[in-house]
Amino acid sequence: MVFTPLNPLPVDTSRIRAAIRTLQPQLVEWRRQLHQKPELGFQEVLTSEFVAQKLQEWGIEHQTGIAKTGIMATIRSDRPGPVFAIRADMDALPIQEQNEVPYKSQHDGIMHACGHDGHITVALGTAYYLSQHRDDFIGTVKIIFQPAEEGLGGAEPMVKAGVLKNPDVDAMIGLHLWNNLPLGTVGVRAGALMAAVECFECIILGKGGHGAIPQQTIDSVVVGAQVVNALQTIVSRNVNPIDSAVVTIGEFHAGTAHNVIADTAKLGGTVRYFNPTYKGYFGPRLEQIIRGICQAHGARYELNYWELYPPVINDGAIANLVRSIAEDVIESPLGVVPDCQTMGGEDMSFFLQEVPGCYFFLGSANAEKDLAYPHHHPRFDFDETALSMGVEIFVRCVEKFCR
Ligand code: NI
Repeated sequence: MVFTPLNPLPVDTSRIRAAIRTLQPQLVEWRRQLHQKPELGFQEVLTSEFVAQKLQEWGIEHQTGIAKTGIMATIRSDRPGPVFAIRADMDALPIQEQNEVPYKSQHDGIMHACGHDGHITVALGTAYYLSQHRDDFIGTVKIIFQPAEEGLGGAEPMVKAGVLKNPDVDAMIGLHLWNNLPLGTVGVRAGALMAAVECFECIILGKGGHGAIPQQTIDSVVVGAQVVNALQTIVSRNVNPIDSAVVTIGEFHAGTAHNVIADTAKLGGTVRYFNPTYKGYFGPRLEQIIRGICQAHGARYELNYWELYPPVINDGAIANLVRSIAEDVIESPLGVVPDCQTMGGEDMSFFLQEVPGCYFFLGSANAEKDLAYPHHHPRFDFDETALSMGVEIFVRCVEKFCR
């Protein structure tokens, strides 16, 4: 029996590589233009105009104004087949850039300090390449430019607006340029890649008074301190030790003077975990502990708890596809970092809850060029060589999945 692939066209990966490498100077130019005009979540007006104008120029069908500033490009081959989606986030951060580079941010107090300017660029490069090579794949590719990843969760309203429907997306990928990994590496794994993100604010309501007369008061600092300690037992005593989780209290505000007992203390924190079965667990458990401690001291409390992003869970088969292509594309002895995981969160999870897919990290740090500052740092920048690598991985995934 003769095996007949759905797409009988031979795929010449060296041709794809050569064509994409010629785009590199163009990619750098787009990235630097975007870098100079960073915008915060749901305010990506200039950014989405830039994207729409390019898509228009290349004759790519697209829809603007999704979830305020989101855009979806649709690139159809002339043959029916699967629907593959690629996602890029577009927002910047409220940070004053400290890099002295010609393409420094021109928007005071706003900076692309997470590399999303690079994500837009990689997605644009992919859109351009695919629009020029519609014979390389069958079916349809949707490229989703999403607003507001940084805390505001722009992915969720994009999903609600129907970007994964009509035609229905079969599989999806996305990447994050990653300065925790050197250029020439890719971090990818099946299963949980990034954690669920939840957060809370708690106000302990005690009774203030003189620092020398504690018997007349309910000391909110003492109550708060016990709460901070006791909350650590959720991870150490309640969560299955096989699973990973974090409870961090990042804020503790109380008091005005050394000899005054504070009547209120405000705590704020974040909760992270990989295993989605813990959804709905941490909030009530946290409240149980706070309630018990407050009761023991006669204090009251107010608690607000938010479940922000679910964990980013990669589909095994698509993660394998990305891994095998990445091994081929990056041509580096450093290679693929197989079990890369972080307790950081990402709203890519809202897409991956709906369709199977894979999110991965593309190493972008280069210490020799002083391009190794961490994400969200005022001197963050990345090695732009990663841009064409990103395009090549995306294009090769399309070519492999849509055939
Ligand atoms: Ni980011």
